Amino acid sequence: MAEEKMSREMRVMTENPLNAETPITYLRSWITANSVFFDRNQNALMKAPIELSDWHLTISGEVEKELQLGFDDILRFPKTTIANTLECSGNGRSLLQEKAKGNPWTIGGVGNAVWGGIWLKDVLQEARLNASAKHVSFEGFDKPMGSAGIKFVRSIPIEKALSSTILAYEMNGEPLPLKHGYPLRALALGWTGANCVKWLTRIALLEKPFEGFFMDNVYRIFQKDQDPKAGEVVTKIPLKSIITQPLPGERLPLGTIIILGAAYGGGMTVERIEVSMDGGKTWHQGSFIGPNEPYAWRQWQFVWEAQGSGTYTIMARVTDREGHQQPEAASWNVLGYGNNGVREHAVTVEII
Ligand code: MTE
Repeated sequence: MAEEKMSREMRVMTENPLNAETPITYLRSWITANSVFFDRNQNALMKAPIELSDWHLTISGEVEKELQLGFDDILRFPKTTIANTLECSGNGRSLLQEKAKGNPWTIGGVGNAVWGGIWLKDVLQEARLNASAKHVSFEGFDKPMGSAGIKFVRSIPIEKALSSTILAYEMNGEPLPLKHGYPLRALALGWTGANCVKWLTRIALLEKPFEGFFMDNVYRIFQKDQDPKAGEVVTKIPLKSIITQPLPGERLPLGTIIILGAAYGGGMTVERIEVSMDGGKTWHQGSFIGPNEPYAWRQWQFVWEAQGSGTYTIMARVTDREGHQQPEAASWNVLGYGNNGVREHAVTVEII
């Protein structure tokens, strides 16, 4: 049974492009192993890794000195190692009350890894930015699917690029795996996955945000009667908590029950985790366990002495250091981004 509970099998939503979520049991660990880290792709995966000698990164646009860097040049910048939780903007979409378009993620479109790489600001400094450089776009070399041939390009504001964005070439002690962007990916720390371009090949300094399908038609929060472009771009991971043990629908013997979960929010310090076993009427304080790093989730637990058999709805809610609390219900939008509702993430179990 223990083995069955720890099945490594990913929950595959689409095979090509590969979109798959981490088995919930693997979210109980502070580190998410590379082999079960969620996969989110717009395009078909390349069959083989690029030869490093064929790869280079171009830095162009609003710079004084355009750069062409090979992989050895990347390794000549000072190294950083940082834990960062990555979450797909659509994670939790299938748990929304009202259906929303897109892959039906439950809670496994998230993972935490220790990344090795370099600070983007160091590279940009070498290219010497013009005063007009206000946004930074990233382009991946994955081959666009579909006849329109739209490349995966995303931009972030210069402040984010200079303060807390890295270019990662290692993931949990291994070279960046092919599926996760080998040989180099961007990581806008604490921001949703869409801002973290894989298979990076070009960085451009721009006066304005990049315009294109992946900036303007998707990864924005908009309503049915709204033009997608009028919606806000997804950036920071919203404050939320998930329950990773017990699993929904589990039947458990009466007695001590260990409730486990994770709490996170891009760059926010989570301070309090509370758990309810009666659908939100009463709340009990849980405790955080494991490492506490600025951009990484915190694992938590609550030891529950179940007093009687029956059906119970377990909920969790997190509060950050500034007093922001996870909302009781998610705010719906057409593409179902940013589901962080307490109720949407409730887990119902049976105590026997
Ligand atoms: N980068 C490229 N080049 N192509 C992509 O399809 N998908 C993005 C982002 N970077 C994507 C990409 C999205 S939407 C997410 S959520 C993350 O990568 C997923 O990263 P992962 O597959 O390593 O978990």
